[in-house]
Amino acid sequence: MVKLGILISGGGSNLQAIIDAIESKQLNASIELVVSSKAETYGLERAKRVGIPVMALSRDDYMDPLATDERIAGALQDAQVDYVVMAGYMRKVRNPLLAAFPNKIINIHPALLPSFPGAHGIKDAFDYGVKLTGVTVHFANEEYDEGAIIAQEVVEVAEEDTLESLEEKIHNVEHTLYPRVLELIAQGRVIMKDNGRVAVI
Ligand code: GAR
Repeated sequence: MVKLGILISGGGSNLQAIIDAIESKQLNASIELVVSSKAETYGLERAKRVGIPVMALSRDDYMDPLATDERIAGALQDAQVDYVVMAGYMRKVRNPLLAAFPNKIINIHPALLPSFPGAHGIKDAFDYGVKLTGVTVHFANEEYDEGAIIAQEVVEVAEEDTLESLEEKIHNVEHTLYPRVLELIAQGRVIMKDNGRVAVI
């Protein structure tokens, strides 16, 4: 069983998918702490209603991002988490967090990285007119949406897709892929190799 800390900034649908996967025993993990970069998010409500401890931050906290990342790292260490899972967390993770959890911070992005990083991955891919996009799960580094890739799943953009229908397809894939990858991690099957690439065994 792995202990997870989850970082969010918004609605928390990926957090919910992880909560549900644990509940249905598809994922052998526990969520020890949810940290939100914003004081009021629906994701915080999702955590609170199932009794998960939360830490809510505000825009002011990020005026000093290093001090805030130190506080977050301290709280995650106090909660004894093994892995830190970014689920729509729209802030960078900086050295205090990366050093406290080396190769233990994971992010999900709604595009096939390294294409379309940033806060609008689905829209950027749709507007570009790609025929294939998808979802990437990767280890985080100090840059947005960078770091060794663990898993990707392709989503086809159909002729009749609108941005909204594509968003729905992508989110559906996220909600199954993320718990699946976390279960692989829980089983010790995700290995960071010496060359900086990830092997899934
Ligand atoms: C998700 O689609 C996630 O992939 C994306 O934010 C959304 C959060 O939704 N993350 C990024 O774009 C990271 N660059 P949620 O709060 O409902 O899980």
